[in-house]
Amino acid sequence: MKVMTIFGTRPEGIKMAPVIQALNRDPFIESVALNTGQHKEMLDQVLELFQLVPDYNLHIMKNGQTVEELTSRLIQTVTPIIQKEAPDLVLVHGDTTTTLVGAYTAFLQKIPVGHVEAGLRTDNKYSPFPEEINRQLVDRLASYHFAATPSNKQNLIDEKINADHIIVTGNTVIDALLQITEQPHLFPAALKKIFKSEKKTILLTTHRRENLKDLQYVYRAINRIVKENKDVQVVFPVHKNPKIRATVRAEIGENENIHLIEPLDYQDFVHVMKQSYLVITDSGGIQEEAPGLGKPVLVARNTTERPEGVEAGTLKLVGTSEEKIYTECTRLLVNETAYKSMAAISNPFGNGEAAAHIVSCIKNNIFENISEGMLEETLERI
Ligand code: UD1
Ligand code: UDP
Repeated sequence: MKVMTIFGTRPEGIKMAPVIQALNRDPFIESVALNTGQHKEMLDQVLELFQLVPDYNLHIMKNGQTVEELTSRLIQTVTPIIQKEAPDLVLVHGDTTTTLVGAYTAFLQKIPVGHVEAGLRTDNKYSPFPEEINRQLVDRLASYHFAATPSNKQNLIDEKINADHIIVTGNTVIDALLQITEQPHLFPAALKKIFKSEKKTILLTTHRRENLKDLQYVYRAINRIVKENKDVQVVFPVHKNPKIRATVRAEIGENENIHLIEPLDYQDFVHVMKQSYLVITDSGGIQEEAPGLGKPVLVARNTTERPEGVEAGTLKLVGTSEEKIYTECTRLLVNETAYKSMAAISNPFGNGEAAAHIVSCIKNNIFENISEGMLEETLERI
């Protein structure tokens, strides 16, 4: 059985690494990994850490790429590889442009698609943009859905996706997180220096496209927090997107308590998260990881597709309003009870066994259904 995984960005690399490792270990599966290269440096760090050597590297990234040009270049380059390899199943992850194109090009070749991290929804088509629509389209294209949580499964059932084709597995990010935290780790000198001080650390990341026009408010809140709390420092690995870097440059000047650094490799990032007091982010994956490390997260977005974390009390939506971020962050810095009640919550996103579960489903019963039942059913609909 030949299974092709298609991925291209940092979070897809991190979350598919445990799945690819499990596929590679299985003697009955021929695993083919295709890296579109939608990201370059940020993904290369992940490949090195998890010792993944893709069979194909498309080097697609261009500086400041638009979604439109990226999509068309991806369709042109991914299609001939899928045609040549003719896998029995294509696995994609999440909601990026690579995910959508991977699923769509496989579908056009009438190859069944398995969607890892299926069923996340905000039901607001512009938030996150374009990810919400990407994942909805991918769930329509996919034959098999690996949902991280029961509520993700319910979202799919609500959209009339057959419940027999949905399996709840937990999120593979927890597999990756546990794999990394179990290994001994030493910070490089620059990070060691940051953590020498006794200050409380706020870890900040921002990258969402729909937030680009409002990022200045997030950064102004950070400037105020640091100015008013001398015992606080901010560690901010700045995403490589040139538009984000321009706003960071314009809003955050030289400040010894705001450490603007390059994106960290995953191992360093996880350990920085462990050492931090709280996290402010618009990232998806970090909303799942931080609760696993007992860190409260202020989500700098107006919507989240991870309501489990909000309901559990470990995530709080604060949007991009300067005032709201400033107020909520200050509350957690000064009110120990509020802080402890957010930090003490256990992780609702998985137990570290998602990848094994996915691969065993593919191998054992589900794959038979895919080849004998699902594909026929798909073809009948055409
Ligand atoms: C993409 C995904 C988003 C995901 C995010 C993870 C889409 C539309 N967006 O957004 O869903 O949450 O990745 O980070 O698929 N760049 C580099 N080096 C890198 C990576 C990016 O220089 O290793 C720069 C390039 O100038 C690139 C730009 O960042 O053009 C934007 O990258 P792109 O993948 O288009 O969008 P992201 O905002 O990273
Ligand atoms: N991450 C990392 N280095 C960094 C920032 C983030 O390795 O400097 C990891 C983080 O732990 C998480 C993933 O990147 O697993 C999240 O990626 P991102 O926020 O870019 O994308 P999203 O999850 O929002 O799609």
